[in-house]
Amino acid sequence: MSVSNEMVRDTYDLYIGGTWMSTVDSKRFITSNPATEEPLAKVAAAQATDINHAVETAREAYPGWRDTPPNERGRIVYRVGQRIREYQDELATLESLDQGKPRSQAKSDIEGAARYFEYYAGAADKLEGTSVPIGPNQVDFTVREPYGVSAQITPWNFPANLFARGVAPALVAGNTTVIKPAEQTPLSTLRLAEICSEAGIPDGVVNVVTGFGEPAGSALTTHPDVDTITFTGSVPTGQTIMKQAAENITPITLELGGKNPAIVFPDADLDETAIWITRAIFTNAGQVCSAADRVVIHEDIHDKFVSRLIDCAEQYEIGPGKQDLDMGPLASKDHLGKVMRYIDLGRREGATLATGGKALDQDGHFVEPTVFTGVKNDMRIAQEEIFGPVLTVIPFSTEAEALEIANDVEYGLVGGIFTASVKRAHRLAQRLEAGNVYINKWFGDTYQTPFGGYKKSGIGREKGLDALESYLQTKNIAVNLSDSGEGDLPGA
Ligand code: NAI
Ligand code: MG
Repeated sequence: MSVSNEMVRDTYDLYIGGTWMSTVDSKRFITSNPATEEPLAKVAAAQATDINHAVETAREAYPGWRDTPPNERGRIVYRVGQRIREYQDELATLESLDQGKPRSQAKSDIEGAARYFEYYAGAADKLEGTSVPIGPNQVDFTVREPYGVSAQITPWNFPANLFARGVAPALVAGNTTVIKPAEQTPLSTLRLAEICSEAGIPDGVVNVVTGFGEPAGSALTTHPDVDTITFTGSVPTGQTIMKQAAENITPITLELGGKNPAIVFPDADLDETAIWITRAIFTNAGQVCSAADRVVIHEDIHDKFVSRLIDCAEQYEIGPGKQDLDMGPLASKDHLGKVMRYIDLGRREGATLATGGKALDQDGHFVEPTVFTGVKNDMRIAQEEIFGPVLTVIPFSTEAEALEIANDVEYGLVGGIFTASVKRAHRLAQRLEAGNVYINKWFGDTYQTPFGGYKKSGIGREKGLDALESYLQTKNIAVNLSDSGEGDLPGA
C-alpha cells in the first residue's frame, strides 16, 4: 500500500488470546487516510465465527484475571498507562493518519488514554463492599464482583481514548474484554491491544475484533456469553443494541451523543466565551459527542457576539492531521456527505449561513468551519446531531426562554452557561437536563469526573469512579448466627 509511514503495517489480523489471528474466511477491508483518501492498511473483517472465538477466549481467561490479587491487577493496569506514554508519538501518528485529527489533538487523546489506565489502576484494590447491620443473628455484607466478559463497541471520533475509557475500568474490576473498534479507524485500537500484552495483561484478557457493525458488531453484542456491553455511538445503533441485549438480559452502558446548548448572557466575558465556544464546536472537526452545537445568545449581545464567533471561525486553518493545523478532515467520505446534507438542509430551513458551509475542493473530507444564525430551535439543524463543524445560533430574551430552548431537545449530554452571575449560573445548572454542566468553560469533564447522558444521550456513566458501576455487580451475603433454626420469610 502507498503509505509513507512505516508505523502502519500493510495488513492487520484480529488480536485474540494475545496473538494475531486471521479470520475464518481471510476477508479484509481497507482503512484509509481521510485527509488524502489513500488506503492505509488492509484490516481483518471478522465474521460471527471469529467473534465466537474471541468471546470464548475472553471467557476462558476470565477466572484467572478475576482471581489475580487486586494489587497485582492494579500494577499491571498501571503499566499499560506507562507503556501508552512511551508509545505516545506512535499512537498519535496512527490516530492522526487513520482518523484525520491534527497531531496535537491526537497526542492529547493518547495522553488521556494513559491517564485512564493510571487512574483506574489505583482503584483495583479499593473496590470494597459494605456491611449491613441486621442484628445479632445474622452477619451480612456485600461484595462487588465483576460481570465476566465485557463487550466494548467504540466509534471513530476518539478511538484510542474511548478504548481506554472503557477497557481500563473493566479490567481493574476483574472483567475480561472483547473490543470492536469502528471500521473507519481500527489501527490505534489494534496497537493498544498489543501494548496491553507488552505491559503484562495476560493473554485473552484484552481481545480486539475488527470489522463492520454487521456482522461483527452485532455478533458481539448478541453473544450469549457476553456479560455486559459498553457502546458509544449513534442513537439508532444504541437502540438496536439495547433491543438485542434484552434477549439475554445483558446490562448495557450507552453513550449516544448530544445536541448541546451553550447559553451566553450579556454579563459574560465575550472575548473569552467566543474562544471557548469555537474550540467547543470545531475541535476534532465537530466530531465530538459533547461539542457545543447550539449557542443560545441573549438578544442584547447577539450581533457583537456572533461577529466574534465568525472572526474566530474564519481564522481556523484546515489541513491534514500531520500538518497539525487547527482542524483536520472529517473521518470518512460518508460522514462528509452527511454533514454537507445538513448544511444544505439548514439553508432550506431558512437559517442564515453566516460563514463557511463549503467542502474544500481538494482530496480529503474537509469542510469549512460553519456558523448558521437565525436558527429556530424546532429546525432539524437545531434538533439533530450533525457531528461536524457546524454551529447553530439561536437568540433568546429571558432566562426562562433560554432554559426552555436549551432543554427542548431529545438529547441531554452536556450544557454550558456563560455568565458573571453566580446565582444565575447555579440556578440554570440545577435545571439543565444534561449529565454534565460547564460554567464559564467547556469540556470541563476529565477522566476523574462522571460523564454520561440524560434523556436519549444514554444510560450509565463513563469516567470517574462512577464508571466502575458498569463493570461490577453487587452480591449480598447473609450468614446465620442463630441456633434456633427459625426461618425468615421473604419480603421481611
Ligand atoms: P454507529 O453508532 O453506527 O457506529 C458506532 C460503532 O457501532 C461502530 O464500531 C460500528 O461498527 C458499530 N455498530 C454499528 N452497527 C452495529 C450493530 N448493529 N451492532 C453492534 N455494533 C454496531 O455510528 P456511525 O454510523 O459510524 O455514525 C453515525 C452517527 O452517529 C454520526 O454521524 C454521529 O452523529 C453519531 N456518532 C456519535 C458518536 C458519539 O460519540 N456519541 C460517535 C460516533 C458517531
Ligand atoms: Mg481510516
